[in-house]
Amino acid sequence: MRTLLNRKVLFFGGKGGVGKTTCASAMALAASRAGKRVLLVSTDPAHSTGDIFECAIGAEPLEIAPRLHALEIDAALEATRYLDGVKARIAGLFGHAILKEATRQIDLAATMPGAEEVALFDRMGALIRGEDDRFDLVIFDTAPTGHTLRLIRMPELMEAWIRALSRSRRAMLGVEQDDRSDPIMISLAERLDRLRELRARLMSGRETAFVLVLIPERLPIEETARALAQLEEAGIRVGGLVVNRVNNRVALVTRQGNPVA
Ligand SMILES: Nc1ncnc2c1ncn2[C@@H]1O[C@H](COP(=O)(O)OP(=O)(O)OP(=O)(O)O)[C@@H](O)[C@H]1O
Ligand SMILES: [Mg+2]
Repeated sequence: MRTLLNRKVLFFGGKGGVGKTTCASAMALAASRAGKRVLLVSTDPAHSTGDIFECAIGAEPLEIAPRLHALEIDAALEATRYLDGVKARIAGLFGHAILKEATRQIDLAATMPGAEEVALFDRMGALIRGEDDRFDLVIFDTAPTGHTLRLIRMPELMEAWIRALSRSRRAMLGVEQDDRSDPIMISLAERLDRLRELRARLMSGRETAFVLVLIPERLPIEETARALAQLEEAGIRVGGLVVNRVNNRVALVTRQGNPVA
């Protein structure tokens, strides 16, 4: 676990109820006591971090111990914030008539499946890129495995999507207009830059690690093996496995399978 302290981003993932929140919280507390400025982020709608630390944690970082802040991301709230942000950005770009139609389209998009996930991803992305420089280490207590794997693959998907948008915008602009003077091209290019930065940080074994929590039973072991393969395939470094509830205690195993504690 000590080697994980020097990362910038840690994810704690695993099947439901195996002890993700408990382990992420313990890690966050240990890291803060070791002198790191830590942000513990819960992305699980069930939000039990507040219960563990016995305080009401909300959408902005709250100091819950020396050098330790916590934050619970509420996907619905993020979706509203995200879309308000989009509206504010396009308000400066278009005239009244287009804006009215665009706003209607955005409000419609807000009700579509996936809107909350994109918004959650956007907020997580900002934290992963290290936007808040008050923290040395950001620890994510994630929702059960499948959801997180999708989130981690999002930069790749979104990059492809933004590239396609840029191509059609480029075709619309025609040869005489320079990309650098078109606000939409500029905004797309900025988004692409941020996604690349995010992906680089996610894929950097030095900066980011995924910790998989499991219990020593057949189904969680099999699910963990699958998650491990998927993460490594996506280029994400698995920093360790925590085998929880071994004789009701916690055991830590290295990548090579050697027990540590
Ligand atoms: N090693 C342990 N010994 C005893 N109790 C434990 C241990 N680890 C976790 N628990 C308890 O098990 C329950 C589930 O743990 P926790 O909430 O950390 O799991 P989780 O993976 O975050 O669950 P969820 O998928 O619902 O978010 C909690 O009540 C917690 O206190
Ligand atoms: Mg939990």
